[in-house]
Amino acid sequence: MKRLLVLAAAVTAIFANAQTFPGSKPISFVVPFAAGGPTDRVAHDLAEAMRKSMGGGANFVVENVGGAGGTIGAAKVAKAAPDGHTLLLHHIGMASAPALYRKLSYKPLDDFEYVGMINEVPMTLIGKPQLPANTYRDFENYIKANAGKLNIAHAGLGSASHLCGLMWQSAIKANEAMTTIPFGGTAPAMNALVGGQVDLMCDQTTNTTGQIEAGRVKAFAVTTAKPLSGNKLLKDLPTLQEMGLKGFELTIWHGLYAPKGTPPAVLAQINAALKVALKDPDFIKKQEGLGAVVVTDKRVEPAAHKAFVTAEIAKLKPVIEAAGKFAD
Ligand code: MLT
Repeated sequence: MKRLLVLAAAVTAIFANAQTFPGSKPISFVVPFAAGGPTDRVAHDLAEAMRKSMGGGANFVVENVGGAGGTIGAAKVAKAAPDGHTLLLHHIGMASAPALYRKLSYKPLDDFEYVGMINEVPMTLIGKPQLPANTYRDFENYIKANAGKLNIAHAGLGSASHLCGLMWQSAIKANEAMTTIPFGGTAPAMNALVGGQVDLMCDQTTNTTGQIEAGRVKAFAVTTAKPLSGNKLLKDLPTLQEMGLKGFELTIWHGLYAPKGTPPAVLAQINAALKVALKDPDFIKKQEGLGAVVVTDKRVEPAAHKAFVTAEIAKLKPVIEAAGKFAD
């Protein structure tokens, strides 16, 4: 707690000396997906924590700019004024989009200043309540027995839910077995799943935990390499590796980005506030309650997060090419 107070005092001192930033203009967290989804959830929780870590002097707003798997919102921030008042809160889509979109209107590594990484989030494979399956084995057999009749929801090409579905369908060799139904985010997709309008989806625990607990959807597996043994709700769900999908591993991460050209002093202030926020007990409690793990290692540093995303782009390219689904 003492370290937190010292860090908070250092951040306050930085802001006390700031000539202009943040000033009275609000800081906008652009979320490239619909309100109510997992990315939006992280944004609201982080905005609350950063409002505190900036000594209450900054006003944050969350702006949802959905569509095209997060690329519309990302493009908006790439072109925004580089003054620290428009930030992109995005996820693994920063790394998957280059392999999925032949004509991406921004360069993830060149058109942004990297502020730092926020968290890591497991994904769960879930189905509508009416599905006649209760174990992963029954679920996969049902999918294969109903090839061409089922649909899988996601948040657009390049979204985390799309990437997970792509990897999973490729792993069980069911690429043509299902129709994919895109939404502006996994909040509307979840509504359709709970309502039985779509059959299945892969989504982050930050969005699925509540629905699973309420029995509104069925959960079949987790996408992490290891079981979520620390999570009382999800600890008994098998991993896809345990279900025979060799080497299957997918963990979603979120990061914070500013337009290229944002002044280093402003970036340093935002990164300093992010570091304090990531140590905020309330923020950690909220995130861990939804299965997320808050970043505590060097990836919270701008250069380290950029190196991480660079490696993720290289890692995902062959995975996506193997699954063979691209956008023009
Ligand atoms: C995703 O699938 O990329 C996200 O879950 C979308 C969202 O946050 O709504």
